[in-house]
Amino acid sequence: MEKITSLAKRRGFVYQSSEIYGGQNGAWDYGPLGVELKNRIAGAWWKEMTRLHDNIVGLDAAILMHPRTWEASGHVENFTDPLVDCKKCKSRFRADQIPQENLAAKKCPDCGGELTDTRKFNLMFKTHIGPAEDTASIIYLRPETAQGIYVNYKNIIQSNRMKIPFGIAQIGKAFRNEIVTKNFIFRTCEFEQMEMQYFVKPGTDEEWFAEWRKRRWAYYEKLGIKMDHLRWHQHGPDELAHYAKDAYDIEYLFPMGWRELEGVHNRTDYDLGRHTQFSGKDLQYIDQDNNNERYIPFIIETSAGLTRNLLMIFCDAYDEEQVAEKGNEDDWRTVLRFHPDLAPVTVAILPLMKKDGLAELAQNIRAELKEDYATDYDQSGAIGRRYRRQDEAGTPFCVTVDYQSKEDHTVTLRFRDSMEQVRVPKAELSARIRQEIKVYKRTK
Ligand code: GAP
Repeated sequence: MEKITSLAKRRGFVYQSSEIYGGQNGAWDYGPLGVELKNRIAGAWWKEMTRLHDNIVGLDAAILMHPRTWEASGHVENFTDPLVDCKKCKSRFRADQIPQENLAAKKCPDCGGELTDTRKFNLMFKTHIGPAEDTASIIYLRPETAQGIYVNYKNIIQSNRMKIPFGIAQIGKAFRNEIVTKNFIFRTCEFEQMEMQYFVKPGTDEEWFAEWRKRRWAYYEKLGIKMDHLRWHQHGPDELAHYAKDAYDIEYLFPMGWRELEGVHNRTDYDLGRHTQFSGKDLQYIDQDNNNERYIPFIIETSAGLTRNLLMIFCDAYDEEQVAEKGNEDDWRTVLRFHPDLAPVTVAILPLMKKDGLAELAQNIRAELKEDYATDYDQSGAIGRRYRRQDEAGTPFCVTVDYQSKEDHTVTLRFRDSMEQVRVPKAELSARIRQEIKVYKRTK
């Protein structure tokens, strides 16, 4: 994880938040390459969950919601972690994440000091809206994006004439006052979620639950993720969230071990039932194709962390490869084997020399490719070094402009993964890259 964190910072993917002030725990900033990568991951998910489904639509709900939302959802009452502190070294632990014998003996796993009693700690960030800090103005930063979807479900049925089964997808920020934030961007206080809520007829929920598990697995396969680094974990009765009848996590083998990446949950009619009760509004679905049958839909939720997906994709892409045997550090290259659809930069254009009109020619090629691809341009240093810099950024294609280019209007196209190079007519470059992206298969 240290190598990942250091590469991410060095190449401008992720920086510590407020670093010049010593950093802010649980918060991270996404640099030039990081924001591109994050946007592409979000784009891939959005395409998969909305564009490829005729019956799933998008939403972007506000982070600040009426505080009753969180009473109805059960978060005010139930969204807690058990917390213990060490009286001696002042370390803070989640009681469910330290060895049970330490908890029973009230002994700190770090220093052996005495632990406090376990107390419940609500993870929602609470703040005030308006100038008066009285209880009437309490408001929460949403701990999940899902509730914004539930409170809009009737609006969307009416405005978009949705018929069950249908889904609503959303990507957005969520906030949790996590007790333990470590492992880089894995668990943070401010993060982004990509959630889809699928509204189904009661009785068909188990079938849809199985179907969405299948679809979400296939999604990661399509992104070229190492499938032996993914596995399912079904929640036991003591792990199930207060709203869930059944839940499976897709876990990824991160450098620190197997950890949750995404959850697929059968939330039953819990959420809409509770919002009916707390808002007094009738949230039943009226099935006009079936004698106006009325029911509260069941909800199948797929809930993935966007920032956690970014960490997974970064770890999955990271590779160190020996490319020579000269006995020096250049024998090795660090390469991020991102799927070309996700890579922050798709094509880098590199003139072999700055002089003799090669730089101008390369700039012209860049200008042509810019409309279709995220491009970079680099003219400084030896060409081998420049290739390595692009490998480290995960750029799948490099275009080299050399003296031959001036004569026969061809360029060199270099492939990141194989390091192979082919000569391509300049006029066919864009189409060739498009084709290469289409047929891309990760081989290493
Ligand atoms: N709406 C259901 C829900 O929020 P969750 O299992 O608590 O379920 C879903 O969260 C996903 O959100 C997780 O699988 C994870 O990818 C991401 N996530 C949750 N807490 C996170 C945190 N503190 N930092 C980063 N990602 C987090």
